[in-house]
Amino acid sequence: MAQRISGLYQLVRVPLIYKGLMFALGADNAIKRYVNEVLEPAPGMKMLDVGCGPANILAYLPALDYTGIDLNEKHVDYARAFYGNRGRFIVGNAANDLGQDEHSFDLINVSALLHHLSDSEAITMFASLKRLLKPNGRIVTFDNVWLPQQRVTVKLINKLDSGLNIRWLGGYLELLNGLDFDVQTRVFHDLLRIPYDHIVMIARNSPRPQSG
Ligand SMILES: C[S@@+](CC[C@H](N)C(=O)[O-])C[C@H]1O[C@@H](n2cnc3c(N)ncnc32)[C@H](O)[C@@H]1O
Repeated sequence: MAQRISGLYQLVRVPLIYKGLMFALGADNAIKRYVNEVLEPAPGMKMLDVGCGPANILAYLPALDYTGIDLNEKHVDYARAFYGNRGRFIVGNAANDLGQDEHSFDLINVSALLHHLSDSEAITMFASLKRLLKPNGRIVTFDNVWLPQQRVTVKLINKLDSGLNIRWLGGYLELLNGLDFDVQTRVFHDLLRIPYDHIVMIARNSPRPQSG
C-alpha cells in the first residue's frame, strides 16, 4: 500500500484512535449521508465492505448480509467484537481471498481505500471485485480528491493524509477503465465538520447488448 505508516501515522492503525479521529471530524453525519444518498442499501442485500476497518458503517446499515474484509487484523478483531452477530469478518486481501464468493454481491463498498493504493494495486483489486459482483450489482467508492480551485485548508489536509495516492477525478476514473462499467460520479464538499472535498464513484455492470 502507498501510505505513511511511521511516527504519528501508526496511530490510525489502532481501531479506537482511528474511530475517535473520524468521529471528531464529523464522520457520523458523513457516513449517514453517504449511506442514505449514495450507497442506498436495501434490507436483505448481500454487501461486501472492502477495507472495512472497524466496520463503523454497520451502525448505519439496515439488516443485510454483510461481509467485511481488511488486511489489518486489529481492525477486524475490533469489528468482530463490536458487531459479531451482524456479519462475516475476514482478515485478508480483497483482491485474492474471496474467490469462493464469485458473482454473489449486490453491493460492494470501497470507502476511504483507493487513496491508499497505487494504480496497479487498485486496478488488480477492481478486476477481482468485478468477478465478485452480481450481474446487476454495483461498486461504490468514496475518497478524498484533488480539485481545481480547492481551498488551501483542504489541500493541506490532503497533503497530510496517510494515503499517498489522492487523485484528481480523472485519475480515479482511470482505475475502472476496461472493466465495462457504467460509472457515475458525485463530488461532496460538506460531509465533514470542516469544509472538505470527497469524490464518490458508482460503477454498475454495463447492460449486455440484446442479440437478434
Ligand atoms: C483508511 S481505512 C478505511 C476504513 C473504512 N473503510 C472507513 O471508511 O473508515 C483503509 C483500510 O483498508 C485496508 N486495506 C487496504 N488494502 C486492502 C485490501 N487489498 N484488502 C482488504 N483491506 C485492505 C487497510 O488495512 C485499512 O484498514
